[in-house]
Amino acid sequence: MSAFTKHEMLADATHDERARQSFVKSFRGHLSGKVMPGTYQVYAKRVVPAFEAKHGRAPKDERELRPAMTQDSYYQFWSAMQRRSQEMLWESVIDPAERQLPQLIERSKQLAQRKLRQGKRGSLRLNPDVTLPRYHAAADIHLQPGGYHTDFTADDVAAGVVYDKGINLYMGGALGPENNAMGDLLVTFFREKYADRKPQRILDMGCAIGNSTLVWARAFPAAEVHGIDVGAPVLRYAHARAQSMGVPVHFTQANAESTGFPAGGFDLIISHIMLHETSKSAIVNVMRESLRLLAPGGLMLHLEIPRGDNLMEQFMHNWESYNNNETFARYMTGLDLKAVAVQGGFDPVKTYVDHFSPGYDVEKTNYSESFIWKILVGEK
Ligand SMILES: C[S@@+](CC[C@H](N)C(=O)[O-])C[C@H]1O[C@@H](n2cnc3c(N)ncnc32)[C@H](O)[C@@H]1O
Repeated sequence: MSAFTKHEMLADATHDERARQSFVKSFRGHLSGKVMPGTYQVYAKRVVPAFEAKHGRAPKDERELRPAMTQDSYYQFWSAMQRRSQEMLWESVIDPAERQLPQLIERSKQLAQRKLRQGKRGSLRLNPDVTLPRYHAAADIHLQPGGYHTDFTADDVAAGVVYDKGINLYMGGALGPENNAMGDLLVTFFREKYADRKPQRILDMGCAIGNSTLVWARAFPAAEVHGIDVGAPVLRYAHARAQSMGVPVHFTQANAESTGFPAGGFDLIISHIMLHETSKSAIVNVMRESLRLLAPGGLMLHLEIPRGDNLMEQFMHNWESYNNNETFARYMTGLDLKAVAVQGGFDPVKTYVDHFSPGYDVEKTNYSESFIWKILVGEK
């Protein structure tokens, strides 16, 4: 596991806070490495045989499997521990963030003024008139208190501070030293498949703290790179973090369903694990908006989390929906992303879904081989 890169917007942790975070990481590693695999044994050796004895056949879909699995004591034990580990994760990163919040807000303002190399500077445009979509307002996604969007105080950056360290712990460090792994993956895909393209204007939708956005800005330094999100506090943090790392990016508070940017202004639109946090209607709107924003010949790449290759894997992926407030994610299981893009106006001939895993070191993650990312590609 790689060390987390220091930058000026990270909250410092005391000895005890570090110990607590380290415990959460080990606890989650233990759960996913040692306890969770047992649920697959329970499925094969206990739940399916009992279902077969009663119905004369195996469960055919999740509607049948869910009641049987969720009654099983081993599954219940793992699920309760997993849920608690998620709550502990936030608790362990919120305390240091809260303690240092006034200083971090002050620092974010100073960083916003900093000129970068060659006089370049990123920017931040917040828009209080952006209506928070119901799919964010209704529940705190993955239990982060206040989600990506709540301002607890004026000029708040807390959601960003907490998210940055939180996703590092959530993935057991597997996202890399700057939570950069998803950006790296999509840049690699783009370079492999579209080697002749030199993007000039890039838009990253659902950028949160800009962890993936910065990878693109570094990979294509001649391009003008924009990131949008609905959450103001994550964007304040993203801007300050990018300034601290010396990477000029333009952040705007906007809904990816209807951004307000002029039509045809981008030759590359990307997103990293945003779609599964939208809704059935929003995902089509995002496609329509992507098409509108692309210049002729422009490309969109939406990176998404796989949903499992078989019934039990799908059931386990969908744990996040039922227990971790990833409310829309389960609807992504079996969703034909190409059809969604076509519904949004993309030409079926120029649209496809790819699976990609370039040298992704499965050993170093907590996931099985089935954890191979999906990329929805559409060309205008
Ligand atoms: C799981 S986070 C991914 C963050 C980041 N892209 C990354 O690579 O880690 C999803 C982000 O998408 C944002 N998001 C979801 N729906 C959105 C929408 N309709 N418009 C803009 N941002 C949205 C959320 O606020 C959140 O910050």
